[in-house]
Amino acid sequence: MALYGVVADIHGNREALAAVLDELDRRSVKDVVCLGDVVGYNADPDECVEMVRRRCAVTIAGNHDLIGLGRLDFRRCSSKAEYSLRRTRSTLSRASVSYLASLPANHILEDGVVLVHGGVRDVQQYMVTPALISENAAFLREDFPGASVCFFGHSHEQKVYEVQGDAVRELPGRQHCLAREWTYFVNPGSVDASRKRGAPLAECALFDSGRMSVEFLRVPYDSAASEAKAAVFGYRIDPLTDRFYTLKRRFIGGVSRARTALQRPHGSQPR
Ligand SMILES: [Fe+2]
Ligand SMILES: [Fe+2]
Repeated sequence: MALYGVVADIHGNREALAAVLDELDRRSVKDVVCLGDVVGYNADPDECVEMVRRRCAVTIAGNHDLIGLGRLDFRRCSSKAEYSLRRTRSTLSRASVSYLASLPANHILEDGVVLVHGGVRDVQQYMVTPALISENAAFLREDFPGASVCFFGHSHEQKVYEVQGDAVRELPGRQHCLAREWTYFVNPGSVDASRKRGAPLAECALFDSGRMSVEFLRVPYDSAASEAKAAVFGYRIDPLTDRFYTLKRRFIGGVSRARTALQRPHGSQPR
């Protein structure tokens, strides 16, 4: 049992990651774990990979890490994500590629505590509704028997969902005590705040596995610096390219649907 700093969705934002790690140091947190998406969106992927490699005891792979490596394609990406990930692919160092390629899909942190990036079985799933949490609670029971706490990232919002049998409820607030008899899905929020509205704050969580407590942290960082670098080094899509990517995605989606329809046995209807 230990006190953990839980970080996720860094997305190449060195300033935000440095601010979060400084805060965790200030609070004497030794063990930091990362739920993936180290790269994407911002201009310092190699620096963030190196910071994570040095500071995090455990890191798992996010979909942006896998797309950056070419292990996943762009089909489930937004135009903004695709554009910045094409840039990321072209710039990642060999050392970063090697590190990201070594990351596991999930991790059992300690007895009963599991780390995933998106859904329990789908790295690109956004677990954002009670129905999806309920479905994933069933996957958690099957894939990780005995697990009662699942940390996840990907949806970039600080959340705690409590699962009691078939009932799922979102718990309000920034500090939580987890009951040992129920199951919890916890998102520490996103270190990178470049796509959020309002004052940009880098997010993470503290998890005390002895006390079964979660505290959400929000830390200011130099967002002007990270934003300027992203613009200068070609990580921000312009409106025309955005439009082109959207049309391309629609065309590819249409072709794919037409192919599926042609392959369907004659007379059968889509469900
Ligand atoms: Fe992400
Ligand atoms: Fe993600």
